Amino acid sequence: MRSVTKDNITEVFAAYFAEDSDPRVKEVLIALARHVHDFARETNLTHEEWRKGLEFLEWAGRITTPERNEFVLLSDVLGLSSLVDMQHSVADATSSSVLGPFHVSNPPALEVGGDMKRDFEGEVLLVEGHVRDQDGQVIPHAQIDIWQTAPNGLYSSQDKDQDIHSFHGLMTADAQGRYAFTTVRPVSYTVPDDGPVGEILNAAGRHPWRPSHLHYIVSAPGFRSLVTEVFPDDDPYLDEDTVFGVREDLVMTYVAQPAGTFPPGFKLSGTVEGGYSRVDFDLVLARA
Ligand code: BEZ
Ligand code: FE
Repeated sequence: MRSVTKDNITEVFAAYFAEDSDPRVKEVLIALARHVHDFARETNLTHEEWRKGLEFLEWAGRITTPERNEFVLLSDVLGLSSLVDMQHSVADATSSSVLGPFHVSNPPALEVGGDMKRDFEGEVLLVEGHVRDQDGQVIPHAQIDIWQTAPNGLYSSQDKDQDIHSFHGLMTADAQGRYAFTTVRPVSYTVPDDGPVGEILNAAGRHPWRPSHLHYIVSAPGFRSLVTEVFPDDDPYLDEDTVFGVREDLVMTYVAQPAGTFPPGFKLSGTVEGGYSRVDFDLVLARA
């Protein structure tokens, strides 16, 4: 018999795996056990602290619904989602960034030049760019799923006063790879902080704010799907995103445009008499 000790428990755990167990599952689970064991050793974790941790996970489970996944949020505020993103980012392609929990399925079609602002109040933002490959060639007809907050800082799934599809749109870029739309300039907002993840933020003295952003999921045959965001370079939370989603290549200048210069070819209802902002953001996909 091999007795289990606090020093050999990690190897004993590893030895439990059957010969024919999946090698990748085995690798990941043994590494997880090694780090969890080392964590308990390094912190000299007490029973009381360990129980608190389990209660935390149980609370996260209770609060999780299809609209609010506290485990995803936990991964986000711990920086794990962003670390996994960065580990798999591809040089010369647009960086990926957090998906977040507010994407809705079956977004409405948004034509090139279409409008997401509808009748919401706020500063008009014109967004335009091309979908390209890593050599700079345009990719025709990529699908671009776009979403953002309303001017009140809430996503449609958080706000019963919004239609579930407001500020969501699914665009097919044109044959030249161009996409373009109008919207309201997004605002900075807070991630949900009234649950267990909020306790972590509190304990760390961290705020729950994210810099304003537009979300994209871009896909085209033969290319890796890209989940990303674009941020304005003047947002006060750019350097302190609570979910660590900002990457240098995702920060753009939203250029203020003078009144009377709104270009033709956009479907925004009514005329834009005052100024507006515009951001040009190319989306570069990595080959699959
Ligand atoms: C978001 O950007 O929508 C988001 C990302 C991570 C956590 C919460 C929200
Ligand atoms: Fe978001």
